[in-house]
Amino acid sequence: MTDVRYQPMVPEDVEAVLKVELAAFSHPWTRGIFLDCIKPGYECWLMFRGEEQVGHTVLSVAGDESHLLNITIRPQDQKAGLGAALLEFIVDRARQKGAEVTFLEVRASNLSASRLYERFGFNEIGRRPNYYPAAGGSEDALVMAYSLVD
Ligand SMILES: CC(C)(COP(=O)(O)OP(=O)(O)OC[C@H]1O[C@@H](n2cnc3c(N)ncnc32)[C@H](O)[C@@H]1OP(=O)(O)O)[C@@H](O)C(=O)NCCC(=O)NCCS
Repeated sequence: MTDVRYQPMVPEDVEAVLKVELAAFSHPWTRGIFLDCIKPGYECWLMFRGEEQVGHTVLSVAGDESHLLNITIRPQDQKAGLGAALLEFIVDRARQKGAEVTFLEVRASNLSASRLYERFGFNEIGRRPNYYPAAGGSEDALVMAYSLVD
């Protein structure tokens, strides 16, 4: 995708990240969660289109497993292919770090996200009942996996 670039997230970026996060999620991550991911060296990245910060993503790698913990595109830039590009970028980082599989959890009701993952090649491998807080109760998580090896 043209005009898109990626930059590692540092603590000074978290204010701007929170603006995107708050706009995009009903249950956003807090400043502390982002800082707790940057500190141990998780893969924390910003996405820019031109000069505009349009999204971010966080992935942890441990041994041959990786976990996609956050992927967000700000609302006004969604549905233009940026989410797919950011997913491709972060899965490639997982591969470069030696992971053989990427796992993620997604709210059962989050169709735009789960469709994105399925289109990419993630498979549903399980469900965690009542995993997420939700308006008026809780909601299941779908657990999805993508193999990075043949
Ligand atoms: C999930 C998320 C990252 C997807 O980002 P995105 O930039 O909208 O993703 P894409 O544009 O690549 O794909 C989304 C949709 O736009 C469509 N699309 C992509 N390019 C398009 C274009 N040029 N014109 C029209 N539609 C297009 C895709 O086909 C897809 O359609 P679908 O939802 O009907 O399957 C984004 O919706 C988001 O940040 N959501 C809030 C946070 C969140 O839920 N994160 C995931 C938590 S697990």
